[in-house]
Amino acid sequence: MNCVELKGVYKSFKDKVALKHIDITVEQGEIFGLLGPNGAGKTTLINILGMVKRKDAGTVKVLGKTLEQAPMIIKRKMGVVPQELAIFEELTAYENVRFFGSLYGFKGEVLKEKVYNALKFVGLEERAKDKAKHFSGGMKRRLNIACGIVHEPELVIMDEPTVGIDPQSRNYILEAIKTLRRKGTTIIYTTHYMEEAEALCDRIAIIDRGDVIAIGTKETLAGMIEECAVLQVAVRDMSKISEEQLLRIKGVERIHFEGNTVSICSRREVTNLDQIIALLIQEGAEITDIYMKELNLEDVFLNLTGRALRD
Ligand SMILES: Nc1ncnc2c1ncn2[C@@H]1O[C@H](COP(=O)(O)OP(=O)(O)OP(=O)(O)O)[C@@H](O)[C@H]1O
Ligand SMILES: [Mg+2]
Repeated sequence: MNCVELKGVYKSFKDKVALKHIDITVEQGEIFGLLGPNGAGKTTLINILGMVKRKDAGTVKVLGKTLEQAPMIIKRKMGVVPQELAIFEELTAYENVRFFGSLYGFKGEVLKEKVYNALKFVGLEERAKDKAKHFSGGMKRRLNIACGIVHEPELVIMDEPTVGIDPQSRNYILEAIKTLRRKGTTIIYTTHYMEEAEALCDRIAIIDRGDVIAIGTKETLAGMIEECAVLQVAVRDMSKISEEQLLRIKGVERIHFEGNTVSICSRREVTNLDQIIALLIQEGAEITDIYMKELNLEDVFLNLTGRALRD
């Protein structure tokens, strides 16, 4: 069964269209990434899924039921970790998580155990008695996650959980998410860090200006722009290289010089490595390093939109 099914989801704020007929299917047990720049519509989509905002059109199904059919059942099975911290500064970590656990009707020993498990999950069990206001940014983010997962949801939705935090907390969070997946939890993970999406997600939807512009595994996404391979060669003497000569080699489409590295973009189906290297040697450029550049999601985004993912 699909865990989440979005069909034709549309949302506008007055005359500003935030989501343009989004179609996305998330399978059970996968980490699904929503990757897109600021203002792409990620949070709007999460808010609609989390029933914080209403869609204008389209259908949203979670675990086989539409939001309208079974809002309460879906809310119990889903945990949302919001982009804006939703914790009480004056309460301790324990009290914060307990509050969210109690919203789901848990009481007494069962609640206590769930709260400790959630705190342990984010590595805050030893800080249970400290007030949230004394926590670092990374610790607050981790507490925010504990609050969102205390009821052990089948589907966890996280909106940029690693923004602006220290590398240690970031690693902690990423490892925790992998642990969740191992337990069979489905995760929707929103980010504008393409490295995170690549490292963590089974499948990724690239979102831009309210539109899904590509969807798939990182390999299939890279495959969309695979017609060119990029050979990068570092040399000691760049002045010896003739751009004109390189462009005469069959298959070579573009050349880019930067620092002491020349990037040669070449059609994949043409075998010309021998010729390129022979030419560079013959010209006396003195090769110091050579490698094929791996295409990443940044390249995919650039290729599809003509803009960089980061500004
Ligand atoms: N309440 C609102 N009123 C008006 N416009 C809004 C509102 N909420 C979002 N928008 C607009 O909708 C678009 C999508 O915003 P959204 O917050 O969903 O983007 P995002 O992908 O989460 O961005 P970020 O990476 O900055 O969090 C933006 O153009 C934003 O300005
Ligand atoms: Mg957002």
